[in-house]
Amino acid sequence: MLMSGQDKSFALGKREIDGVSRRWCLKAAAAAAAWWSVPGAFAEELVLTPRQTEGPFYPNRLPLDTDNDLLIINDNITAAVGKITHLSGRILDRSGRPLRNVLVEIWQVDSRGVYLHEGSANRDQRDANFQGFGRFLTGTTGEYYFRTIQPVPYPGRTPHIHFAIKAPGREKFTTQCYIKGHPQNEQDGIFRSIRDPRQREAVLVDFVPIPDSKIGELAARFDIVLGWTPEDSQEPPASRG
Ligand SMILES: [Fe+2]
Repeated sequence: MLMSGQDKSFALGKREIDGVSRRWCLKAAAAAAAWWSVPGAFAEELVLTPRQTEGPFYPNRLPLDTDNDLLIINDNITAAVGKITHLSGRILDRSGRPLRNVLVEIWQVDSRGVYLHEGSANRDQRDANFQGFGRFLTGTTGEYYFRTIQPVPYPGRTPHIHFAIKAPGREKFTTQCYIKGHPQNEQDGIFRSIRDPRQREAVLVDFVPIPDSKIGELAARFDIVLGWTPEDSQEPPASRG
């Protein structure tokens, strides 16, 4: 099993404004401090990841193992079938600041196109070794990591992986990522519902062969940019019912 919540140190800290001339009037100094305390203030805001429907197949019963390794359930010896994919990325705010203590959940069909859900088609053909769902709690870098399989199509959908992003006091955010260049993307109604071309681009992910991998493993990076504001986090969860 893989560990969750790696916590690499990240130099997010406020930038020093030491050495500011004392001749600056207070107002100017305050304005400068506010400016400098926002990393990325000079950069353009990032493209927000588009919301996508949660769909009907979030597991209706969670698996016994909900870690970030979807290939091996608990201590099983047999791994799931599929193209092994190391899926990672960062959860960021629109200024590019990493969001920590954010729960990232993914779910997807197995190599036979079956969800871990009682309502999924072809349930009798499900790969019992595929976890189908996983969780990862971000650390200070905002990074998440899963070991899973490259998604496959199922009737009516181009290959995709579902994401739910959760944090206390925030509204749940759901989206889906897709295989860049997959021929079925352009026929997929949910993908096509994203109208902004930059937002479409933001959910298209390269599944890249890992050099020297003898078993043909893939790497995929999917950063998720949220429009969460600081005000959101100050609102107590209770006020949202
Ligand atoms: Fe789906």
